[in-house]
Amino acid sequence: MKPCCRILLPCKNTPFLGVPIPKSPNSASHNNCLFNSHFCAHNDHTSSPRVFVFKTILGQSQKPNFAPNSNWGQSRIFSSTCGCNFSKRAHYLVASLASNVKSFSTSIETRVNDKNFERIYVQGGINVKPLVEKIDLDEDAVKKEDDGIEVKDVENDLKNENLKEAESADAGKEESEVEKEAWKLLRDSVVTYCGSPVGTLAANDPNDKQPLNYDQVFIRDFVPSAFAFLLKGEGEIVRNFLLHTLQLQSWEKTVDCYSPGQGLMPASFKVRSVALDDNKFEEVLDPDFGESAIGRVAPVDSGLWWIILLRAYVKLTGDYALQERVDVQTGIKLIINLCLSDGFDMFPSLLVTDGSCMIDRRMGIHGHPLEIQSLFYSALRCAREMLALDDGSKNLVRAVNNRLSALSFHIREYYWVDLKKINEIYRYKTEEYSTDATNKFNIYPEQIPHWLMHWIPEEGGYLIGNLQPAHMDFRFFTLGNLWSIVSSLGTPKQNEAILNLIEAKWDDLIAQMPLKICFPALESEDWRIITGCDPKNTPWSYHNGGSWPTLLWQFTLACMKMGRTDLAKKAIDIAERRLSLDRWPEYYDTRNGKFIGKQARLYQTWSVAGYLTSKLLLEKPEMASLLFWEEDYDLLEICVCA
Ligand code: GLC
Repeated sequence: MKPCCRILLPCKNTPFLGVPIPKSPNSASHNNCLFNSHFCAHNDHTSSPRVFVFKTILGQSQKPNFAPNSNWGQSRIFSSTCGCNFSKRAHYLVASLASNVKSFSTSIETRVNDKNFERIYVQGGINVKPLVEKIDLDEDAVKKEDDGIEVKDVENDLKNENLKEAESADAGKEESEVEKEAWKLLRDSVVTYCGSPVGTLAANDPNDKQPLNYDQVFIRDFVPSAFAFLLKGEGEIVRNFLLHTLQLQSWEKTVDCYSPGQGLMPASFKVRSVALDDNKFEEVLDPDFGESAIGRVAPVDSGLWWIILLRAYVKLTGDYALQERVDVQTGIKLIINLCLSDGFDMFPSLLVTDGSCMIDRRMGIHGHPLEIQSLFYSALRCAREMLALDDGSKNLVRAVNNRLSALSFHIREYYWVDLKKINEIYRYKTEEYSTDATNKFNIYPEQIPHWLMHWIPEEGGYLIGNLQPAHMDFRFFTLGNLWSIVSSLGTPKQNEAILNLIEAKWDDLIAQMPLKICFPALESEDWRIITGCDPKNTPWSYHNGGSWPTLLWQFTLACMKMGRTDLAKKAIDIAERRLSLDRWPEYYDTRNGKFIGKQARLYQTWSVAGYLTSKLLLEKPEMASLLFWEEDYDLLEICVCA
């Protein structure tokens, strides 16, 4: 890490000197404040919340006096300590602590399915990644990792043949005016931290006076930007992004005294400028784990995208050293451990709340939404590829394999619908009490929506949006279906059939702007009850049947995998005709995507990057082929359900 870099950290509940802090709201006495500190508070006038800069001496844990029942535990700690009055959350800037805490190391245990996967060693506890290591900790290696993020001049080091080829292929190519504009916009949206590029703004419209959090770097939004840079032969920004977000991952966060599990990745982060004592400023990274987000939604997809992006980065750059780093290996394990942790689940699919992915507002997708399942599946496949196989990881890898086969069986078997399957459901018997029921989830045939009876084509099929006891959400969710193709969550036949359906239903799913986020929209009573009367998600707008140009890159990748580049080209042509003229909107409204979205941001970066990535993927099929997965026959073999 460059010397000036600081990261804003939540204080409460952060493991201190390796001692995990209980989650209980009554655990005030356990909440070690990290600081034996004499600190000074600075009000960040440019932005709320206030930011506190700590001059910290580390070495002792000191319990602060605070009441445990504040909305924001952290705020309470420090409002009582420093006598400041503020209502929102507070963040804590920890100044270069890593070196001070190296000498402390304690172990905590993580458990997945009651098997201990490994011991996680926490070096220090503040601003230092927890390190997963074998018992015989390699001191030198740890020291190297522990020095923080080293953002080297990767340009020379990293470039393997792939990246060099990508660059030289580009050199000879004439870019269209739209592409030139898109590249300029993408580069203008780059966010730097201590002089290095670390991500891209969600939107960059100079005329937008109320950017809300669109002036932040979103993890999911950065993915198409990252792909565009990687395919262009530029790896540095992606590497920096991966390492900086990794640092943000390890810190506990709290909503009303409750913390989600360790390993959660933020939805977004912002680089803030913080005033120091002597009229100087320094930059800090301020993550949002959902504690500020509208609806307090947990960004479940962030960690999954992080793993997927890491694998893509490594594949395209050949920088295997990054994936092998102890802190990176730990990051992967923390995410996977969190996903695999025990709950009350009856299904291998991941149980999440509404709004935990790209659709980050209430849209009735709580439970086991397809988008999360397909990202989960590909993140597990990536993790299995990247995890170093040793005694410390073998149980985890075994659990990953088991989950992969159970998950793919579950989705292929129960989420799949086509004409034949709908006819079967139509004739289902219900109330079958037995282990060998046909209608396992007790689906009442009356649930089949009228639109579906007419809509389902003779050719093709798709994976439904969600499955729960007595509930099938028959809506078509585009990202989940596309990513199932890309990751081979679906069978080869299903993957082909999904594209056949998109082709057959072109006017509904692509129409005047690719692609519908979901089909059809919730209307009338359904809209009222399911969205909670959300004025942003009115029928055929935004998440409720709006058209999102960013989905073009996933569509292109899926088409390329299935040998249907004709479809991708057709969709790109449609987008190309409008995107630049319309100033790169975030989404489009109406049934056929005719209008720029009512509340759509303009110059939305992932619309720009989605377009560029699509173009680059088509130009570089050999690189594209590194980004999707074929059927895994080993998994099929170990799948006892099948
Ligand atoms: C909206 C979208 C979300 C996206 C964010 C930033 O909240 O629903 O998917 O990440 O905007 O663009």
